[in-house]
Amino acid sequence: MHKGLFITLEGVDGVGKTTQALLLKTRLEQKGQEVLHTFEPGGTALGSRIRQLLLDPNHAELSSMTEILLYAADRAQHVHEQVLPALKAGKTVLCERFVDSSLAYQGYGLGLDLDAIRAVNHWATGGLVPDLTIYLDADPAECLARTKKDRIAQRTLDYYGRVRAGFLAIAQAEPKRFKVIPASGTLEEVASRVLRAVEGEVL
Ligand code: TMP
Repeated sequence: MHKGLFITLEGVDGVGKTTQALLLKTRLEQKGQEVLHTFEPGGTALGSRIRQLLLDPNHAELSSMTEILLYAADRAQHVHEQVLPALKAGKTVLCERFVDSSLAYQGYGLGLDLDAIRAVNHWATGGLVPDLTIYLDADPAECLARTKKDRIAQRTLDYYGRVRAGFLAIAQAEPKRFKVIPASGTLEEVASRVLRAVEGEVL
């Protein structure tokens, strides 16, 4: 068992996860918590090399199975090297993306076997589940206009529609853990919604 709080942030590319993670980190630190802000893929030195492989548009030949396994490999290293040690030390971990991203992007988005993705990731993470997940919800068409077109982000709007629907399906299945926060409005408005959700559930 770990002592710290494990909070993940999810959402489609360009929705503003990093900005909101940093604002939440500041607010939690003001409340006296020690916070580790981190992300997947690429939250470790090894992981940043896996990230390059995953996002390189020149590797169009990368198979769906390889894609699932590389995200899971990045996650295994990240949990081992960053997330678990911080949780064991009693820190709050704010992690951009976790298993839900693999379910939404590879499962719902690409139409791959959800149970297989769950099983691989259960193994990769030792069954670690976030205490709370903040899902920033917005229309992918608006978010994608703000992104660099890497190997994943160059996928179609139909694909991103399925990713969003996947996140919303997870929210329906796990309403206690997985909170849908509308990403519309100013940064401060979204930040207040995020903080209220965190305070309401886990603080
Ligand atoms: P980022 O832009 O949020 O850092 O994520 C990089 C890309 O990887 C983004 O398009 C989402 C995608 N991704 C997956 O497809 N599956 C996953 O499991 C994760 C963690 C990210």
